[in-house]
Amino acid sequence: MLFTLTSGSGTTVCKRKGELSAVWASGGSFTKCSILGRRFTRRFTALRQKAPFVRRALLFGCTLIAEATIAPAVVAQKVQLSVDVSKASVKIDRNIFGQFAEHLGHGVYEGIWVGPDSTIPNTRGIRSDIVAALRALKVPNVRWPGGCFADEYHWRTGIGAQRVVTLNPNWGGVIEPNTFGTHEFMDFLDQIGAEAYISVNVGSGTPREAAEWLEYLTAAQPTTLAKERAANGHQAAYRVSYLGIGNESWGCGGNMTPDYYLSQLKIYSRFVRNFNPSQQDKQQMLKIAVGPGGSETEWGYWTEAVMRAYQNRQWSWDINGLSMHSYTVGHWPPSFASVGFGETEYSQILKFTLEMEDLVSKHSAIMDKYDPQKKVALVVDEWGAWYAPLPGTSPGFLVQQNSLRDAILAALNLNIFAHHADRVRMANIAQMINVLQAMILTDKEKMVLTPTYYVFKMYVPFQEATFVPVAFDAGTYIHGEISLPRIDALAAKDTAGKLWLAFTNLDPNQSIEVEASLAGIIARSAAGETLTGPKVDSVNTFDAAKTVVPKPISAKVEGRKLDLTLEPKSVTVISVEQ
Ligand code: AHR
Repeated sequence: MLFTLTSGSGTTVCKRKGELSAVWASGGSFTKCSILGRRFTRRFTALRQKAPFVRRALLFGCTLIAEATIAPAVVAQKVQLSVDVSKASVKIDRNIFGQFAEHLGHGVYEGIWVGPDSTIPNTRGIRSDIVAALRALKVPNVRWPGGCFADEYHWRTGIGAQRVVTLNPNWGGVIEPNTFGTHEFMDFLDQIGAEAYISVNVGSGTPREAAEWLEYLTAAQPTTLAKERAANGHQAAYRVSYLGIGNESWGCGGNMTPDYYLSQLKIYSRFVRNFNPSQQDKQQMLKIAVGPGGSETEWGYWTEAVMRAYQNRQWSWDINGLSMHSYTVGHWPPSFASVGFGETEYSQILKFTLEMEDLVSKHSAIMDKYDPQKKVALVVDEWGAWYAPLPGTSPGFLVQQNSLRDAILAALNLNIFAHHADRVRMANIAQMINVLQAMILTDKEKMVLTPTYYVFKMYVPFQEATFVPVAFDAGTYIHGEISLPRIDALAAKDTAGKLWLAFTNLDPNQSIEVEASLAGIIARSAAGETLTGPKVDSVNTFDAAKTVVPKPISAKVEGRKLDLTLEPKSVTVISVEQ
């Protein structure tokens, strides 16, 4: 083994068995370290975290023995990757970048809706700053009005001049003014350029109520309901692209058994019709059934039941998607803090979030048994980090901060969905504004974009791009008992043929030198953006909004080789110019 130790005063080279080589560069305190050879680095990383004496023991035998006062070394690890653009395969559905807006806390009221008389700039009551921020994300669809709220929502409370004031028993028991209803939601979608994903009330509603809502929304002919819609300000039929038939019907949606839910599903699927003439042949409304809760292994029985029924279905009903909900929570009730945490909580949460891979694989495998042609999409329509409520906030409002850890979490999950693009064709992060893992936080007239927002923005080019396989050895990042892949990567070719690469460096201490070999493309240059921050729990606040924001990055490209350095704890997206 070859060590090159560079202290402030010079360089010392020392040898050991010659198997691997390491170059440590630093000032007098050894702050930067690069090691070639993953096997050693992994062991070193593990040992380094255990005790300084182990680190010193590693150096024993060298002509220079590092002094006890040496600060932890930062190692730049080399990772080799190969990307073959000619192997581009499945389209990454842009719907995996979907959003979720429930009537919960300040998600809708204050987050989206301030009312037309507000001093906060708005268009017909909808905040202009939010609209501008969301337009930049090219939000494909928004799921509304819940969540648990959906199974207690009666749409007639939210139309017309006189709104019915109700309560929101699920989320703090607060007054629900219903000033944001069907027309306001559709206006909001129109302003941000997204499609409607409407969850109808199966729990406390009726098939007739849901059917009439859809007729009110979509009928173009002059039915009484269509005329009522016109009288309320919208002559033309609305488009409803996705219909959620219930929400968590095994839990807050009515604690149903699979059999009971299936009997409801068949009725709603049959009678809740979309009458919009433009959605009869092409662009038909897709129906999404309640699926598994996700995080617990026993949820397989639910997926089995719905998919078996789907396989044996009669002509009179159909589904196009099966929903799955899985939060990164650790343990219920949520107890991880969203701010003020260290590397231990960082690595624990990332370990929990990577369980999404197993969940998606497990439920996809069940779906494959009953639907080998993959006609039914797995729709992960609630996902994201769920932490302890911020101190001083109403527990029912699910308020949490959003840190660099969440940006990394978001990238890892988006990568998982993209890797399963053949089955996962829709996903909705929970939730869009002010609730759980939000894109945006607001406080009266103030607004701040979260680290998660920036990941969604950087990933826009992956919408409708074609998945390209990447081969690499991720290496290992170890912290205490936790062992994680050091990096994650995603590649895709956009509709114009341009190659996009996304990298996540999970390691909060070491930068990574990526050496990518590219096949099927002659690259000339590559550049993009990288997102990191000073600490794993760095956040953007109303007063310091630019702590975690993307900055430009470029790669060195020579023929078929691309070299790029990933900063510790970062998400990077680059495009390759031919
Ligand atoms: O997103 C918050 C809640 O989590 C939703 O209302 C519910 O569907 C889930 O349990």
